[in-house]
Amino acid sequence: MFPLERPRRLRKTPAFRDLVAETVLTSADLVAPLFVAEGLNAPHPINSLPGQFQHTVESLVREVEETLSNGVSAFMLFGVPEKKDEEGSGAWDPDGITQVALRELKSRFGHDVVLMADLCLDEYTTHGHCGVLTPHGTVDNDSTIELYAQIGIAQAQAGADVVAPSGMMDGQVLAIRQGLDSAGFDDTAILAYSAKYASAFYGPFREAVKVEIANGGDRRGYQQDYRNRREAVREALADIEQGADMVMVKPAMSYLDVLGDIAATVDVPVSAYHVSGEYAMIKAAGERGWIDAPRVALEQLTAVKRAGANFILTYFANEVAEGLNS
Ligand code: PBG
Repeated sequence: MFPLERPRRLRKTPAFRDLVAETVLTSADLVAPLFVAEGLNAPHPINSLPGQFQHTVESLVREVEETLSNGVSAFMLFGVPEKKDEEGSGAWDPDGITQVALRELKSRFGHDVVLMADLCLDEYTTHGHCGVLTPHGTVDNDSTIELYAQIGIAQAQAGADVVAPSGMMDGQVLAIRQGLDSAGFDDTAILAYSAKYASAFYGPFREAVKVEIANGGDRRGYQQDYRNRREAVREALADIEQGADMVMVKPAMSYLDVLGDIAATVDVPVSAYHVSGEYAMIKAAGERGWIDAPRVALEQLTAVKRAGANFILTYFANEVAEGLNS
């Protein structure tokens, strides 16, 4: 039994623990997802995401300013249009809400921010699916990715540094890359939601963007099945081959194995999205006094980084960054 292992030697004091810590979360690792809604005259609180709002363009600017002052400089924008239609035309309309917000933020904050735009159709379609429907009610892959290319161009034109396709259509990254390049936006990056699972953790998000999928439908026909692990690596590699500059795993906590696999396999930056349901659960338990919410948030986000994420999208971005600075 000699020499006995004594790992506790290195855990004695905060200074020792800091010295040997493998993973340190910083505000630069965080991306704040933000919602901006058309036709509001004041920010509207999202009930199931305490502390998060559907913003007006004006309140969005203030939120970005504050978050930036806490050291978070990347933002993922989601638009909530006033009117939806069958095809989701608000998504690529130059005067659509996301484009309006991108233009405003880019003109105010310039190179101080990395502006990302979620690239999808579900917020803009009456039926709530991520693409256009066939007469049978399934999502038509190939006509959808043509529209995605148009959305990418509109977002880039409005000032997006990064477009982030989240619809899980086959070939979407290639279609968007070709669209961007042909319109002269070869400098606009693509963050692919590569391994995006059909998840019940997106519940509060659907309230945030007022999306209800028609006829009690779901997204299992295009998003991944959570019983599968290996296809996630394949999806990420396919996206990189099509031109993705960065990839994402989503949700985060229930998919750390998937994140670890992808981080070990690919050589582009890897991110994870700590999604609305993950945020809401921590907030709800914290409100009841059952857990210490800020500590749980920090533990979870650090675990996501430990598992291999270079950066993390999280509704906690501003709050956690503020805590890290104090
Ligand atoms: C699709 C999209 C969704 C989320 C991000 N992009 C919803 C979905 O796929 O149903 C979910 C994010 C979250 O839950 O925080 N535009």
